[in-house]
Amino acid sequence: MRRLRKDSLRPLFREAKLEVEDLIMPIFVDENISKPMEIASMPGYSRLPIAAVANEVGKAMELGLKAFILFGIPSHKDEVASSAYDKDGVVQRAVREIKKQHSDAVVITDVCMCEYTTHGHCGIVKDQQILNDETLPVLGKIAVSHAEAGADIVAPSGMMDGMVQAIRSALDAEGFTDIAIMSYAAKYASSFYSPFREAAESGYSFGDRRSYQMDIHNGSEALREVELDIREGADIIMVKPALAYLDIIWRVKEKFRMPTAAYNVSGEYSMVKAAEKMGWLDGKQIAYEILVAIKRAGADLILTYHAKEIAEMLSETGEAGGI
Ligand code: PBG
Repeated sequence: MRRLRKDSLRPLFREAKLEVEDLIMPIFVDENISKPMEIASMPGYSRLPIAAVANEVGKAMELGLKAFILFGIPSHKDEVASSAYDKDGVVQRAVREIKKQHSDAVVITDVCMCEYTTHGHCGIVKDQQILNDETLPVLGKIAVSHAEAGADIVAPSGMMDGMVQAIRSALDAEGFTDIAIMSYAAKYASSFYSPFREAAESGYSFGDRRSYQMDIHNGSEALREVELDIREGADIIMVKPALAYLDIIWRVKEKFRMPTAAYNVSGEYSMVKAAEKMGWLDGKQIAYEILVAIKRAGADLILTYHAKEIAEMLSETGEAGGI
């Protein structure tokens, strides 16, 4: 077995390869700030003002990155997330800015209510219950407003039953038949999201998300979730988180052969950064190894906060420093 492991031969036999096109870079855009604001629990990551977003996309595109997913932090929150579908809402404005300067950037928008509601939940709330069917038309409106602003792909992340169908019908009814849906299909009620909740100001005021996000103990249930979303019209399906859910990525890809994305979430990023700060490991190499593992498990696309540093690494060496 060792014959093919020589430095000169190894690259010829790589099964999974990480390429810059595989990476989707998350961007937090905040309507309330005029300068970038570092996110304490995500070292190296900042919220950006709307005016800085197109420039950041431009810099990332110079490194070869092509796709971006936007999360908005609005100035106004209410019970029904009305600023999420405002024509001049934070994401809608950011999309227009990006498209004006970089028409070839692939712009994906996260479609959810939690950043826009006072209670911080991903749906309409009544008597501390998150109502499923009442939430669906709101998600449709948000998706249409993102499409009107110029988004290429909408990504519903709220784990409401029927959300993909509701969004597909709403988009089609408004003539946006070409806008693709990337569904957060198998999204677990995970503790790995806590840094994101600081980043996107989307913490909740009561309860938790376990009545809509999946139970971490379940694997087969993910296949049912994904199957439903495919039937409802999802073009790309997502597994989230990624690192502790490689088995799910593998099972989903094997069974459905769909374009499959995996979300290397905030807590996965923060763990690497914390250990790197302590000097306990090489953060870049670890990030690379994690992302390769996610690809090897079957993901076609990876949403990751490491996107820029890995793109830089790939553009310097073509691969990770001779691993
Ligand atoms: C919103 C949303 C969350 C994430 C992406 N979209 C948070 C949540 O569900 O609580 C998490 C992403 C991350 O942790 O990086 N519904």
